[in-house]
Amino acid sequence: MLDVARIRQDFPLLRKADRGELGIYFDNAATMFKPQAVIDAVMRYYTEGSVNIHRGEYDLSYSVSEAYDAARVKVAHFINADSREIIFTSGATGSMNLVAMAYAESVLKAGDVILTLESEHASSILPLMRAAKKTGARIEYIPLAEGGRFELDAYRQALHDRVKLVAVAHVSNVLGYVLPIAKMTQLAHAVGAVMAVDGAQSVPHLATDVKAWDIDFLSFSSHKMLGPTGVGILYGKKAILDRMDPVLLGGGSNARFDRFGQLMLKETPTKFEPGTPAIEGVLGLSAAIDYLQGIGMDNVFSAEHALKERLVNGLRSMEHIVLYNADAPTGIVTFNVKGIPAQDVAFYLNANGIMVRSGNHCAKVLVDVIHTPDTVRASLAFYNTPAEVDRLIDVLRSVTLEACIAVTIA
Ligand code: ALA
Repeated sequence: MLDVARIRQDFPLLRKADRGELGIYFDNAATMFKPQAVIDAVMRYYTEGSVNIHRGEYDLSYSVSEAYDAARVKVAHFINADSREIIFTSGATGSMNLVAMAYAESVLKAGDVILTLESEHASSILPLMRAAKKTGARIEYIPLAEGGRFELDAYRQALHDRVKLVAVAHVSNVLGYVLPIAKMTQLAHAVGAVMAVDGAQSVPHLATDVKAWDIDFLSFSSHKMLGPTGVGILYGKKAILDRMDPVLLGGGSNARFDRFGQLMLKETPTKFEPGTPAIEGVLGLSAAIDYLQGIGMDNVFSAEHALKERLVNGLRSMEHIVLYNADAPTGIVTFNVKGIPAQDVAFYLNANGIMVRSGNHCAKVLVDVIHTPDTVRASLAFYNTPAEVDRLIDVLRSVTLEACIAVTIA
């Protein structure tokens, strides 16, 4: 059992909530609050470092460069990769665009197939759609079962020898289901396809092992795992990254070039990281990983699962609530209140001191599967408490259309 009361002391915004000066934060799938250790790491860079990396022939630059390089090693260990397989990007969106532009657009041919899911986030599917358009490849969808559930048999049947890339989110940001990534990768490889995984909603919440799963790409972001915004990570198998050309060119990523345009790039991953990176963000991410490892990813997962079960059990018996993912194991609970638009419910919860997200959650194809354009999403984190969950249940018990309208027009 986690000592959540103690953990909450580490987060300035949770301390504020515990003082009654801030509401209950249930929008953790959008981004997570930051512990003081992460804030300190960012501040430390600006107060004690604040110089560029890999460019300065002086001690201060050497020490910041060392800390930056050590952060890459830490990220690699966190997902069981080699540090040369870790590329820092601007965010998970940047990572997925890199896969689409630097990999898919260069290897796909007319008639090839990208296999994906209708539940995918815009940041995954839009770059792939563009890659398909540019190359003449096409997108195919693994049929989802009732309610958006993934079924391995449907995936098996959707695979064929024209599938060259399987691109899926390990955990859906709307439904919270966890895909059997290792098995899916094995099946993808059996037809000669490469496996690209969006880990934005999984890496922060469950233990990740890219080697055991044998996946080819993994995209995730720092800010969803307690770290700063502006930093994403792309893991790629070294042999694949070595064959890829970067999308961006510039200083720091080239070994030499001349006036005739002859260019020699540096090795992977440096060739993908031109320009000055978000140094403070990467150092903050390193502190975030220390923090998560201190708690333990298995503890993170079980704490969030227990909170989610408590919320689902509280809502299940309410006639006026429609639950879309009661059996998902992660902390994402997606629902509607019958007869009340999702956004009005979110406004009402906000008026009652509860922060959630409403809408389509950037998964615009999924509406055809779950038959509703908008939902309310409460996404729980290990630092939330049972009392916070009970408060959400209580507020939802008495929600009415009239009360929501009163809040909306106020
Ligand atoms: N993708 C993030 C979410 O689902 C922003 O909220």
